[in-house]
Amino acid sequence: MTESATSRLRAEHQLILQVADALETLIGRSESGDTDFDALADCIAFIRLFADACHHGKEEDLLFPALEARGMPHDQGPIAVMLFEHQQGRAFAKVMAGAIDEARTGDEEALTKLRAAATGYVHLIRGHINKEDHVLFEMADQAVQGPACQRLCDEYGLVCQRVFDGRTKEELEELAASLKERAGG
Ligand SMILES: [Fe+2]
Repeated sequence: MTESATSRLRAEHQLILQVADALETLIGRSESGDTDFDALADCIAFIRLFADACHHGKEEDLLFPALEARGMPHDQGPIAVMLFEHQQGRAFAKVMAGAIDEARTGDEEALTKLRAAATGYVHLIRGHINKEDHVLFEMADQAVQGPACQRLCDEYGLVCQRVFDGRTKEELEELAASLKERAGG
């Protein structure tokens, strides 16, 4: 079976979108007075460890440099936009992580902040993934093929074997599945 330069990243996008859906549902419920803080904390952990460290890490450290080596600019065009959106996603995650403990103790202002950042993140990440899947990744699949593509996939594999703040990629995938269930239940 041959992987393209982006097939693993595209598959990860589906999981990230699944958690974005779960987060949106959890926030909707919270607005109706039923806040599941544990599930929200798990969404934040998934976003920081899987979506950012594991997934965006592979894009920023491996895929984007491979594209830059083939002439795509770093400071403008699709790569620059994707990097900027990764920063915006990190900022939303930071606000969520910073607000959840106070929100849990009943601080309404912190809860409002948490909901706003979560909603901002959901909208950002959906648009971001759509752009990557349909623009940048299409370009990447054309640009990186053959042995270079194989090398890239091997390097992705090494990142996926890392432990992210004590959790393996498999554990984070299980977390995403459990969030889908908890939001759907
Ligand atoms: Fe991505």
